[in-house]
Amino acid sequence: MSSIKFINVSKNFGNTKVLDRVSFDVSEGELISLVGPSGSGKTTILRIIAGLINDSEGSILIDNVDTKSMKSSERGAVIVYQDYALFPHMTVEENISYGLKVRKVSKSIQKKKAMDLISMLHMDGYEKRYPRELSGGQKQRVAIARALAIEPKVLLLDEPFSSLDANLRDSMKILIKDLQRKLNITTIMVTHDLEEALTVSDRIAVLLEGQVKQLDSPQGIYERPANKMIAQFIGKSAKVDGFLENGILKTPFGELKTSSDYFGPVDIMFRQEAARIKKNDKKGLKGKIIDKTYTGKSMIYKIETASSALDVEGNMSYDFQIGDSVSVDVDLKKLMVYRKDTGGII
Ligand SMILES: Nc1ncnc2c1ncn2[C@@H]1O[C@H](COP(=O)(O)OP(=O)(O)OP(=O)(O)O)[C@@H](O)[C@H]1O
Ligand SMILES: [Mg+2]
Repeated sequence: MSSIKFINVSKNFGNTKVLDRVSFDVSEGELISLVGPSGSGKTTILRIIAGLINDSEGSILIDNVDTKSMKSSERGAVIVYQDYALFPHMTVEENISYGLKVRKVSKSIQKKKAMDLISMLHMDGYEKRYPRELSGGQKQRVAIARALAIEPKVLLLDEPFSSLDANLRDSMKILIKDLQRKLNITTIMVTHDLEEALTVSDRIAVLLEGQVKQLDSPQGIYERPANKMIAQFIGKSAKVDGFLENGILKTPFGELKTSSDYFGPVDIMFRQEAARIKKNDKKGLKGKIIDKTYTGKSMIYKIETASSALDVEGNMSYDFQIGDSVSVDVDLKKLMVYRKDTGGII
């Protein structure tokens, strides 16, 4: 269990600046998800923490100690990669106890630790199997057990579940969260899956344009993205125009009093599921349904309004048809409002 501090860390590859003064901190025993577009530098951040990239600028502290002069092996950080990287010629048990063997831990302790982890990860009976005899989810669990065997201070998971099917993903999510809590390991998990990040994390860090733009609770990230760029990246939302003057926000859904002294046009965003679609209602934004997509959980309607087309989630108990005239209404408290010029939050 350790804390991690990133202070103004920058990293270039050739002429490309991948990280531009990245700062964030992870508390002891915390699980942080790192989300960001492909190529934004997520794996690079994990590799810097693990000491596999040593020429970055800025400081990285583990337990408040600068890692500058620490070797990779002294940092107590392990990465679990998406492709597992198990040793093919070793059994499950040998894979898991490998790190202990290298550290010259006694054979009996190696065995006990490997067996404890095998049981914790529900892999009993698979001790003598080789990686080629395992499914993807089983290999993933062995990779995690191997990382945990050496009792790392920091666990770095790089898209650990991306190649698993939805059901397996769900059970792995629960397993990781349980293990992480039980063992109290400070963890950073990179993921492309927003739902995964929202459900397992204590906090989520959003990496955009080479910087951590927001580090917040899952609810904070989803319900109050700090700027328009983050709101567009996180989750699916619809956008309409509005105007703010004298503290009054004018929206197609009504007016709202705010404490802002900004004067000017704003972008008003709301989550697809925050809207209600109604027929024959005088209130709300008028439009016509031009498309609909069934997702299993809900129906997403594309609604053409005077100014733009919105994708909005509909209640399953109403089935609107293409061509229907409807109105869209949103609870004013659920609006996310950003200045049109800077994208900053109101
Ligand atoms: N060793 C390297 N040499 C040159 N460029 C690199 C190297 N490693 C990474 N990059 C570049 O740095 C950028 C960030 O890479 P990184 O792997 O950290 O992204 P990522 O956020 O993990 O992306 P993904 O979600 O696709 O895994 C990319 O543009 C990548 O091409
Ligand atoms: Mg990556």
